[in-house]
Amino acid sequence: MNTISRMLKQTKSIRDYTDTEITPEIRADILACACAAPSGGNQQAYTIIDITDPSIIEKLSVTCDNQPFITKARMVLLFCADCRKWNQAYATAGLPVTDPCITELIGAVTDAVIAAQNSVIAASGHGIGSCYIGDIKENCETVRQLLKLPDHVFPAAMVVYGYPTEKQKERKKPERVPMECIVSENRYPDMDEAYLHHMFVQKAGNRNYTEWLKMMFDHKANAPFMKEMRRSVLQYMKQYDWEDK
Ligand SMILES: Cc1cc2nc3c(=O)[nH]c(=O)nc-3n(C[C@H](O)[C@H](O)[C@H](O)COP(=O)(O)O)c2cc1C
Repeated sequence: MNTISRMLKQTKSIRDYTDTEITPEIRADILACACAAPSGGNQQAYTIIDITDPSIIEKLSVTCDNQPFITKARMVLLFCADCRKWNQAYATAGLPVTDPCITELIGAVTDAVIAAQNSVIAASGHGIGSCYIGDIKENCETVRQLLKLPDHVFPAAMVVYGYPTEKQKERKKPERVPMECIVSENRYPDMDEAYLHHMFVQKAGNRNYTEWLKMMFDHKANAPFMKEMRRSVLQYMKQYDWEDK
């Protein structure tokens, strides 16, 4: 196994950090690796906000479904899907600009998340742990106001970084579902009940499978944070045109 394969398989989310600061050189390298990621048409349809103000981080730790570990991170990056900046530039050239449609948003989210993942792997190479914070998509009004996000700029991913505590280093990386349930040749597989059971039963561990599914439903799909995220993302979606013009 080569070094990169090993790192990709070993890198896991880290949610507790030592007090060691990340040096400016390493911060710059993580950011440079993020910006080196591929992007559609090399347009880099994202803007990265390096959040260094502790008061903003403190507020985000609350708006992001109350996750206090965020305040212990030594670096916090927000990867925004930016459907605004090219249009702004086109407008300066007097071009006939229309509001971005949902197609551009999907492209920009893809660019932003690929850049985010480059930063995760770059950090890992420096011995720095990280964790995505999906809940950045909640409380859209507050997040937009705190970070001055204009229309057509969507917070696609937030990642927090820091050197892992010994306990976090020892924590076992969660298992993935069997690879044959994820990879299918030439066509989408028939995901019948047996297939789904095979895919997910290991996650249930020694719990009753159906009871475990009910628990997952309550904790994820039907949880209050998910309702808030749906509301919040819909607020963002209202900024975009849903029809191509
Ligand atoms: C889009 C996305 C959003 C996530 N949001 C959170 C989050 O808000 N809080 C958290 O503690 N972990 C979050 N995670 C981390 C996942 O829980 C983690 O990746 C998953 O459990 C697998 O564990 P591993 O990364 O340690 O292998 C997120 C991961 C992704 C990719």
